[in-house]
Amino acid sequence: MKLHEISLIADAGNTISVKSCGRGSTIVFLHGFPLDHRMWLSQLIELSDRFYCMAIEVRGFGESSLDGEYQLQDLADDVEQVRRQLSPDRSVHLVGLSMGGYVAFEYWRKYRQNLATLTLANTKPEADSQDAKVQRLQMAERVKREGVWPALQSMVSRLMAPEAVESSVGQRVAEMVQSANPSAVAAAQTAMASRQDFCQQLPLIRTPCLVMAGGHDVITPADATEQWAAKLPNHKLRIIPSAGHLSPMESPEQFTASLVEFLISHTP
Ligand code: MLT
Repeated sequence: MKLHEISLIADAGNTISVKSCGRGSTIVFLHGFPLDHRMWLSQLIELSDRFYCMAIEVRGFGESSLDGEYQLQDLADDVEQVRRQLSPDRSVHLVGLSMGGYVAFEYWRKYRQNLATLTLANTKPEADSQDAKVQRLQMAERVKREGVWPALQSMVSRLMAPEAVESSVGQRVAEMVQSANPSAVAAAQTAMASRQDFCQQLPLIRTPCLVMAGGHDVITPADATEQWAAKLPNHKLRIIPSAGHLSPMESPEQFTASLVEFLISHTP
């Protein structure tokens, strides 16, 4: 698989990094916090023979630039600018994990006419509680003072099922976290703290949705996921029992197989 590295200049002036491969219907992947396109490598490899895959990096992560603070709506605008430049004539299959899922909800709100399907993995529609907002803003300050690893190290083990933490998956996650830019981490936490709540909108989302959860996910637990997913009028739910929060990395075969089955059933 040849991964093409593309840098696009958005209307707002920021540089958006996109890693792309393959040909066919377009899938756009949006990574979780505080990761980058590398969390999707298994899916890019597996899917490139039948889909045009694009992994977009959030502002400040990977090779995307960070030009000051932003809102999650701005990231949805970034996704739309990538779609217009790289896949102008087609609607896209949008796949977002956790923070990527929050952006996917925003994309649906503004650009739903350009969506073929929506895959919401290990994510949730609700906004932060007041306590969660305070914790995020405290973490943003701590990252700026102490750096990424001291502030986020304790979070890393919560991202995966216990056996994944000590495996090569745990190592790859730690590498991504350690390579994250402190200002990007702080900006993402600040943006997530003020994100909108989508709970009331779930019954209005007519786009076909695949909702994925991990049986060991302690951040967006499977039982809570099942409850909100039930409000989507057109959805499939897949729970991967052995996975934690990073199901595409922890259980790549099961994640990709569920995704392919869903996408093929919605590809003309
Ligand atoms: C993620 O994996 O993107 C984060 O858990 C999202 C969050 O902090 O809410």
